[in-house]
Amino acid sequence: MRKKITIPDLLNMMREGHKISMLTSYDFPFTRIMDAAGVDVILVGDSAGVVFAGHDTTLPVTMEDMLYHTRAVVRALPKALVVADMPFMSYQTGIEEACRNCGRMIKDGGAEAVKIEGGTNMAPVIRAVSSIDIPVMAHIGLTPQSFHRMGGYKVQGRKDQAEKIIEDARAVEAAGAFAVVLEAIPAKLAAQITAELSIPTIGIGAGPSCDGQVLVIHDILGLCEKYSPKFVKHYAELGPIIDDAVKQYVHEVREGHFPTEDHSFN
Ligand code: KIV
Repeated sequence: MRKKITIPDLLNMMREGHKISMLTSYDFPFTRIMDAAGVDVILVGDSAGVVFAGHDTTLPVTMEDMLYHTRAVVRALPKALVVADMPFMSYQTGIEEACRNCGRMIKDGGAEAVKIEGGTNMAPVIRAVSSIDIPVMAHIGLTPQSFHRMGGYKVQGRKDQAEKIIEDARAVEAAGAFAVVLEAIPAKLAAQITAELSIPTIGIGAGPSCDGQVLVIHDILGLCEKYSPKFVKHYAELGPIIDDAVKQYVHEVREGHFPTEDHSFN
């Protein structure tokens, strides 16, 4: 039986050159399946706001939403490390509120680590939260909670912006983050940051050199019609399979073919 994955295990994987696999999950059944399939880290992403709840951005997601999803994931008892995203406005308004909310995600949600978006600007928060023994995964490059400042979901760190991303990476490592997500930055820049940092880099749209990769589960299963960035790979197309199953059910109910005696009580 596979053993529980811890933060030191991820650091060892990085040192030994074993790539780290991470996927998002928001509920019990998907967590059971992906954990049995061997994923290393489960991210309860605030992408739930888009792929699960149907918002256009992650900005409306609340602490209560994230606690609900995190508890559902944790109930599946995954061997993978469970990291929960801190939603917009749960950590940006001050260090005390950030520590309290991150603490809730661990204590009430059951997460084993939290993820915070931001680089040099969030370094004091990452330092404070890490110093009370709440492990923090940082997230730099394209940070979806900065949607309005960035003017949409755009690649970050091209040309003269590259130095800013490198500064962010150095700042989150120095502040105590145990890993950092690099989202939508040029592959060469991600390779440079990965070579420089001593914590694992987890890429999403950041090329093949990162220590690990993360994608959104609905994206890899072909379940997100709204938005499909270049960095997504569809490993399955579940949309048509669900469509066929539902059509068949509706047809059988209408025609009186379901339920049969097999589905009825004596
Ligand atoms: O919310 C999320 O799913 C994320 C990943 C895409 C990194 O932050």
